[in-house]
Amino acid sequence: MNISIFGLGYVGCVGAACCAKLGHHVIGNDVSENKVNLINQGKPTIIEADIEPLIKEAHDKGLLEATTDYHYAVHNSEISFIVVGTPSSKEGHLNLGYIYNVAEQIGAALKDKDEFHIIAIRSTVLPGTNKKVGEIVEKASGKSRGKDFTIVSNPEFLREGTAVQDYMNPPLTLVGTDSEIADKKFRELYKDIPGEFISTDIEVAEIMKYVNNTYHALKIVFGNEVGNICKALNIDSHKVMEIFCKDTQLNISPYYFKPGFAYGGSCLPKDSKALRTLAHDLYVDVPVINAINPSNELQKKNAIDIIESKGKKKVGILGLSFKAGTDDLRCSPIVDVAEALLGKGYEIHIYDKNVAKSQKTNTNADFISAKLPHLHSIITDDLNEVCNASDVLVITNKEKEFSDVPAMYPNKIIVDLVRQFKELDYEGNYEGISWSNINVNPAQNNEIIRDMVKTEF
Ligand SMILES: NC(=O)c1ccc[n+]([C@@H]2O[C@H](COP(=O)([O-])OP(=O)(O)OC[C@H]3O[C@@H](n4cnc5c(N)ncnc54)[C@H](O)[C@@H]3O)[C@@H](O)[C@H]2O)c1
Repeated sequence: MNISIFGLGYVGCVGAACCAKLGHHVIGNDVSENKVNLINQGKPTIIEADIEPLIKEAHDKGLLEATTDYHYAVHNSEISFIVVGTPSSKEGHLNLGYIYNVAEQIGAALKDKDEFHIIAIRSTVLPGTNKKVGEIVEKASGKSRGKDFTIVSNPEFLREGTAVQDYMNPPLTLVGTDSEIADKKFRELYKDIPGEFISTDIEVAEIMKYVNNTYHALKIVFGNEVGNICKALNIDSHKVMEIFCKDTQLNISPYYFKPGFAYGGSCLPKDSKALRTLAHDLYVDVPVINAINPSNELQKKNAIDIIESKGKKKVGILGLSFKAGTDDLRCSPIVDVAEALLGKGYEIHIYDKNVAKSQKTNTNADFISAKLPHLHSIITDDLNEVCNASDVLVITNKEKEFSDVPAMYPNKIIVDLVRQFKELDYEGNYEGISWSNINVNPAQNNEIIRDMVKTEF
């Protein structure tokens, strides 16, 4: 395949060498004549393990050349990668000036190119950049996105120091595209690269790098904070984290990585509080660990805000315990939400078959009447009674029986705190707490946008 790479810095140089290694013909483009000359002499533009022999081999085989002439680069390739820098401003905003300049250059070159062209953004950019680059290219070329060219988001996951290794063995290859032609081309381009090839929505691909890197940063500071607490207690923090990583069911796993409601129950609130207090008593500063509880409290407030934004006073809560299949109400976050709404004058109806059962059989009755004096009299095991009496239904756990609620009560407003549904075809108003709308019904989508506007003011 013939490809061009705009930007021969760190990522561009590694990409050029590795694409040539995969057998593709690569034209590098840079505004720096020095970098262009280096590539044309068979030398890398960066210092990095394994890169020198790869660049030399590619150059010697005639698979790699470089130029400052963007017109030549575009006209002699079918895919153009944009790999220029995206530095941060002082306030943390991205400087996309280099990206937009390249977009204009590629657009200008496309004016007199007849074949379909694929532009791939490899630089790290925020969601929305792909769309903006498309607009710039359309304006500069006079051509149409989708018909004459397309823009793909193909973020780079390499780390400096092991860049060639990382390029050739990525955890996964991610392509955000709305073009079938591009999807097919990229599967072909990366066919010899191991790991899963994931083709997804453009904006999902665009945000992925930020989610990954912020999580990596979080892992580092979490490990360091645990280390600092362990050190103060004379405990070997490396043994602790080594064992921590051996739990691949709950620790190093997808478990808990589901956007949704606040955590609760008898363990997470109590034990994370105990570690915070221990650190405090040891005079060890742990700002990340301290921030966990405020973030959890905020998610309860977000739930209250969404319910309030619906403008209805009759609210049915489907599930009061902290998760499905239990009557355990200790630190159940929905209890705080229900009490806050009750205090604001809402008419609250609560369905929880396990809690209602334990009230009847007296197993948890003392706890319920002592801790929930405002709520215990309104808990019922009659789901229909709650749904009929309420305008807004709040789904708080993944009990199977809640999956029929939209079909049975098509006019109710549904607030979903647990992603009970992956996709929903619903006439009424549906809103999830931490995901954008999954309702396939377009009329409902407009309603949710109006609701979000209402929430803001
Ligand atoms: N460095 C990394 O480890 C790494 C890893 C993954 C992703 N990224 C992302 O990749 C992008 C590039 O990073 P980098 O470290 O390679 O940057 P870099 O600064 O090393 O290289 C950018 C290159 O683009 C060139 N350039 C600028 N304007 C140009 C134009 N109009 N036409 C052609 N070339 C132009 C510059 O001369 C420079 O050589 C950034 O968005 C970065 O965040 C970097």
